[in-house]
Amino acid sequence: MRVPIIAGNWKMNKTAAEAAAFVRELAPKLAPFTGIERVVCPPFIALPTTAEALAHSEIKVGAQNVSEHEKGAYTSQISAAMLEGLAEYVIIGHSECREYLGETDDVINRKIKAALAHGLKPIFAMGENLTVNEAGETLAFVGGQVRAGLEGITAEQMQSIVLAYEPIWAIGTGKSANAQFANEITGGIRGVIESLYSATIADDIRIQYGGSVKPANMAEYMSQEHIDGALVGGASLIVDDFVSLVQAAQETKGA
Ligand code: 13P
Repeated sequence: MRVPIIAGNWKMNKTAAEAAAFVRELAPKLAPFTGIERVVCPPFIALPTTAEALAHSEIKVGAQNVSEHEKGAYTSQISAAMLEGLAEYVIIGHSECREYLGETDDVINRKIKAALAHGLKPIFAMGENLTVNEAGETLAFVGGQVRAGLEGITAEQMQSIVLAYEPIWAIGTGKSANAQFANEITGGIRGVIESLYSATIADDIRIQYGGSVKPANMAEYMSQEHIDGALVGGASLIVDDFVSLVQAAQETKGA
């Protein structure tokens, strides 16, 4: 039985004060939906105020990235040790980090290991661009990202990992992926996990969909067999939309 997980990726939005005010309003509204794991991922600088505002809430906090290095001369970077106590989750491999920060599959693999070494739970994101999609090569491409990102990760460590399938062409575009297609790809990703680990691990791992998820399309995604939640950008910045997403998930798949 996979507990659905909805994570709001705020990207570069909200100051520390705005983030805290937002979650103070959001947390009581999300409190009833206990069948869904609920996570907010503010910018690094807003993690302390957000974590403090959520101290007595079931809503969890995630970071948006982490350095692959333990410490040292890496100007501007944030290590996994620095996130301990502030975040439970960390998004790794987001397409915007792959594109704007030049993160390769190899770097992402090392970030996943660094996060796990400090008890953080990676939300490992992957997804294809429009060219790959239109060539019908999505699963082969995304499967390659999964294999590379999980190189050397043990079966036991897999229990702490969430996967997020986010087609690049659907992110922030309003052009969400067809739910059946998203189910086919997330099901294919589950198949890759089975081939790398076991049927049990494949059955247990949670796979989110991300890319223009809105209250209007959430129930359709959540009614798909292989989709266990969502990684949400724009809609997670609006309290009522966030609540609607979680409510749709609870009604469709909540325990
Ligand atoms: P949008 O929901 O704004 O399309 O963003 C998706 C995303 O990138 C979440 O990580």
